[in-house]
Amino acid sequence: MAELQEVQITEEKPLLPGQIPEVAKTHSVETPYGSITFTVYGTPKPKRPAILTYHDVGLNYKSCFQSLFQFGDMQEIIQNFVRVHVDAPGMEEGAPVFPVGYQYPSLDQLADMIPCILQYLNFSSIIGVGVGAGAYILSRYALTHPDTVEGLVLINIDPNAKGWMDWAAHKLTGLTSSIPEMILGHLFSQEELSGNSELIQKYRNIVMRAPNLDNIELYWSSYNNRRDLNLERGGDITFKCPVMLVVGDQAPHEDAVVECNSKLDPTQTSFLKMADSGGQPQLTQPGKLTEAFKYFLQGMGYMASSCMTRLSRSRTASLTSAASIDGNRSRSGTLSQSSESGTLPSGPPGHTMEVSC
Ligand code: BEZ
Repeated sequence: MAELQEVQITEEKPLLPGQIPEVAKTHSVETPYGSITFTVYGTPKPKRPAILTYHDVGLNYKSCFQSLFQFGDMQEIIQNFVRVHVDAPGMEEGAPVFPVGYQYPSLDQLADMIPCILQYLNFSSIIGVGVGAGAYILSRYALTHPDTVEGLVLINIDPNAKGWMDWAAHKLTGLTSSIPEMILGHLFSQEELSGNSELIQKYRNIVMRAPNLDNIELYWSSYNNRRDLNLERGGDITFKCPVMLVVGDQAPHEDAVVECNSKLDPTQTSFLKMADSGGQPQLTQPGKLTEAFKYFLQGMGYMASSCMTRLSRSRTASLTSAASIDGNRSRSGTLSQSSESGTLPSGPPGHTMEVSC
């Protein structure tokens, strides 16, 4: 049994107008693979899973998820859930640089650290929200601990190990680009990077000037050495919970997510391909993602229509199954996402829908 240690730091969180202050507590626990830090927002809600997030390479929980979780419409969702935001080792704010020769955990080992977090918090189940490497880690965790995962939101998931072609391309890119540039190319499309918007400038700074860049490079290396998840439609290795796959159209991982979708059970999977969202939909399209997340939770029976906005209520009225706010769930696993024009594409229940919005 891992020895658990607690470090409590109370964080300030910018408030939205009219929002009641919510205390965030940062904790660290020891695991067989080293210490892991996570920040808890909100209080546990009876009969409800925690929302547990895992960020991508080059980011931490705040730079990856703050825009989404502090988005106005998101508040009506998250007030019903406790959130656990994990920082990969060495990615937490103020993390010291690991000593030379430090063996950074593999992505599988990072997934194996999650039970220590849940045990420490005494939480029995989660809805995982992961981006890139974080999506892979949560997927691995869901495959090894299916009874504790009620749902997965996987943004930019690439479930495949790098093949030799990918390695050759990676090596060639490495001849002309620095590792931070390669990480930026993993996070954003080339079009976005050359457009150099304010968002890109901000994230270029975050990655290029990170005081823990050496640690980030270790996480990057673990990501590039990931094993194949070996997902197979109809096979033994598959998710046992509803999954929402998200990717931006023309984003760096579009093909990988499309392929992942083809390997999952269509009755349990929703596929959201988002237009105009670039490589990081949770940063650029928090509103659309919030709405999709609401439908996803509603499909799992967690969002009663009474707690949804009038707009969402009218759009979903004909699609959703019975839902209750007190955790009396029906697992339809069906999701629809509204399009920009406000029309709701519908399909037979239990079918994967690919929707551009
Ligand atoms: C949250 O409320 O869960 C949250 C707040 C700030 C950053 C990330 C998440």
